Amino acid sequence: MKVLLATSKPFAVEAVEGIQHIIESAGHELVKLENYDTRSQLLEAVKDADALIVRSDVVDSSVITAAPRLKLIIRAGAGYDNVDLAAASLGNICVMNTPGQNANAVAELVFGMMIYMQRNHFDGSIGRELRNRSLGLYAFGHVAKGVARIARGFDMPVHAYSPTLTHDDLRKEGEYGVITAYSNDELFRNSDFLSLHMPLLKETWHCVNYSLLSLMPEDGLLINTARKELVLEEDLIRIMEERPRFQYVTDIRPDHHEEFVKKFGTRYFATPRKSGAQTTDANKNAGIAAANQVVAFFESGDDRFRVN
Ligand code: 3PG
Repeated sequence: MKVLLATSKPFAVEAVEGIQHIIESAGHELVKLENYDTRSQLLEAVKDADALIVRSDVVDSSVITAAPRLKLIIRAGAGYDNVDLAAASLGNICVMNTPGQNANAVAELVFGMMIYMQRNHFDGSIGRELRNRSLGLYAFGHVAKGVARIARGFDMPVHAYSPTLTHDDLRKEGEYGVITAYSNDELFRNSDFLSLHMPLLKETWHCVNYSLLSLMPEDGLLINTARKELVLEEDLIRIMEERPRFQYVTDIRPDHHEEFVKKFGTRYFATPRKSGAQTTDANKNAGIAAANQVVAFFESGDDRFRVN
């Protein structure tokens, strides 16, 4: 089988070596399209691929149409909003992600970002500490669980809310040392810092709006390492205009980036390029998991992480 690794944001060399070793040891061929910058390169490369491994690369119906042999798409990462699941299903293509594999990298970044904001971008001015400040986790998947674990070391009380968890799940959340909230209102009201961890779905699109943000304290901090579309940017700008100490830090540059920079100075920061999963460790974890899933799929039809 021909396996295409198409990553416009390439994996670390060690991760690619690991992927190559696993794919080739199983008797398949690995073709690499790394650091590419045009859609036409992807459309050309995918045309004889049996399997495709991607990161945030957009796999829409044009990619699927260009790949008549394609049977499997692996999103080496958590969020698969970049893959057109309906088009894949229509083409009888299995789509999987690699849940949890890059979660620790993102969880660590949350703390790096919180400290950076509380210390005013390390500009030497007087900042604040994390200890005893309450941290709210909106959704409670792999990344949020990692954040909850690390937060213990910072002596931060952690609140969590997920619309998809049952009462039993919520009881289990208690095992992570978190205080469970029973509504998003309750979560936002109890959080000095609020970190977003839900996938981008039509139900979560623009779910962080003025009415929720206004429940946070005057000097609240919103942390977004998930997806920019979760936040209604106009509402966030309004809150930050009304509250001169409210902060926003994000790993995904918002559409209104220039306006945030101009209006809010050090109360705002966006990474130049999404970097949550950009560690050698996370690249190796997600990349090697993806390669193993490709091999298992072609060996035995194993599709345990299927999402479509
Ligand atoms: C994910 O969904 O796994 C993260 O957002 C990381 O995405 P990336 O592989 O594009 O860095």
